[in-house]
Amino acid sequence: MPNIAKLECSRCKKSVSAQTPQTLCPDCAGSLYVRYDLSPLRGLAARDKIAQYAASVPWAGMWRYSLVLPDAKPVTLGEGWTPMLQSRRYANVYLKEEGANPTSTFKARGLAMAVTMARHYGLKKLAVPSAGNAAGALAAYAAAAGIEAHIFMPKDVPFANLVEAKVYGANVTLVDGLISDCGRMVAERKEKEGWFDISTLKEPFRVEGKKTMGYELVEQLGWEYPDAVFYPTGGGVGLIGMWKAFIEMEELGWVRPGKRPKMVAVQSSGCAPVVRAFEEGAKVSQMWQDAATFAAGLRVPKPYGDSIMLEILRESGGVALAVSDEQILASLKDWGKNEGVFLSPEGATATAAYDHLLATGFLTPKDRVVLFNTGGGLKYTDVVGQAFGLQGSAS
Ligand SMILES: Cc1ncc(COP(=O)(O)O)c(C=O)c1O
Ligand SMILES: [Zn+2]
Repeated sequence: MPNIAKLECSRCKKSVSAQTPQTLCPDCAGSLYVRYDLSPLRGLAARDKIAQYAASVPWAGMWRYSLVLPDAKPVTLGEGWTPMLQSRRYANVYLKEEGANPTSTFKARGLAMAVTMARHYGLKKLAVPSAGNAAGALAAYAAAAGIEAHIFMPKDVPFANLVEAKVYGANVTLVDGLISDCGRMVAERKEKEGWFDISTLKEPFRVEGKKTMGYELVEQLGWEYPDAVFYPTGGGVGLIGMWKAFIEMEELGWVRPGKRPKMVAVQSSGCAPVVRAFEEGAKVSQMWQDAATFAAGLRVPKPYGDSIMLEILRESGGVALAVSDEQILASLKDWGKNEGVFLSPEGATATAAYDHLLATGFLTPKDRVVLFNTGGGLKYTDVVGQAFGLQGSAS
């Protein structure tokens, strides 16, 4: 594992020391990126060590990429190295099944890394505002690390998010509002309570955990880029993390030379601030009023990392698009019935968006694409069951 060379501001490029826990850039409040000296890892000999290491331990998960992660003892529950499923109907469509993670979502990767570093720094109390799944993941990893978790989430989160947080012994506050209101509450109380705030993009390590999705999808496709990556977008940590991974892999010489994938950010038409900013050619998003969608994880009315995401989408030649709750549900049913995969509503935004971009000709069936099912559908039996007209109990 490499030592961190420095933390670097994504906006003004200021260098910040990683010797102590950091949140945002002290000069401009930009998000901080972890930077390493990657030069000793250049070339295929180092890349070969990834599979060798993974074969030498019972379960490496995302820590197979320890070579490019901070030097700290992992707090792990088995996250990462999730299945890359080829669609039964479309030869060039791959579904990255993040429901296979602990707590059934991709949030496990970011929170495993953030809690690993929190333990490394000796932090004792962590707080997070969440649309639901990040809260569950923080609760699990904090429990594994023996650290306090303070969770703020909307009171109408999918029931599983509340149950899991309780099971993992977290301190839960249900808020009559959205993740933005939860964020405000954490910000107001953190100093007095001694909480370290691990909000999306307000500390450097959740991105670092999520970047493993970028390494993983390239490795699983034979160290080649796909043509496009579809990402259900709320706060955008995964999109930003994957892009960071692609840049690092190019610096390392680990990916076959080729065009980086078009990044496709998918949102729900009930909360689509990034799509609106993308379409308007704006550099940042505006707060989305009255955010409401069946895809609870995408209810983020003003993502902190909006400008970074918009830059990536444009640089990649990708697009941001919104799908309606009706399209999301239709795609969820389609993949359940025809592929045997129970998508999360968020994941079903990606599959619905793929259908749309094929229909418009933005992509052709020959394009190799990776669609992220960011969570397992079984976390949503209350909301999906309701959409199927089912009662809360099977009896
Ligand atoms: C299942 C699921 N997918 C996607 C997202 C959006 O992730 P991000 O906020 O990293 O963009 C979330 C966020 O809560 C989620 O729970
Ligand atoms: Zn800065």
